[in-house]
Amino acid sequence: MNEEIWKRKITLKDRNWILKLINEKEIRQNSFTTREISKEENDKYWKKKLKRRDFEAFAIFSGEIPIGIIRIDKKIVSIAVSKNLRKKGIAFATLSPLNLKGCTAEIKPKNIASIKLCKKLGFKEKKIVFEKTKG
Ligand SMILES: CC(C)(COP(=O)(O)OP(=O)(O)OC[C@H]1O[C@@H](n2cnc3c(N)ncnc32)[C@H](O)[C@@H]1OP(=O)(O)O)[C@@H](O)C(=O)NCCC(=O)NCCS
Repeated sequence: MNEEIWKRKITLKDRNWILKLINEKEIRQNSFTTREISKEENDKYWKKKLKRRDFEAFAIFSGEIPIGIIRIDKKIVSIAVSKNLRKKGIAFATLSPLNLKGCTAEIKPKNIASIKLCKKLGFKEKKIVFEKTKG
């Protein structure tokens, strides 16, 4: 990796590149809302969330290029890193300096990358969630 990896707080101005990122196929598949997120929905989300005291979000950059986001929403942590920059330690490096004590992460059982990441960050597996999607 040649460029410096750094992060800063997300502002409303970030919402357009975030929309592109979160609609990447694998990010949607690993999310609990698997359908594509619309521009309107994304705008509404960030306008609402950025006003809240129990919400914190960071934009991750490689040099000048935004490559990921971290959200801590009511102590639930989530992270997404752009596809071509995964498996380089970026998620671990950007999450580990944060104080995540008391936080949880909600991860689908097939999301091996996130499970490994959480274990590496010192999260302990807590529960299994069942979901009935049909009938
Ligand atoms: C989960 C995600 C954020 C990990 O980001 P990343 O920058 O690639 O993670 P890191 O490089 O810091 O890797 C952390 C650990 O997970 C492992 N890992 C990462 N991707 C992996 C994969 N696809 N398969 C297996 N292990 C993987 C790494 O090897 C590393 O473990 P190690 O140090 O023991 O080798 C990234 O895959 C992603 O954005 N996925 C789509 C969105 C998502 O699922 N978000 C999680 C919802 S909370």
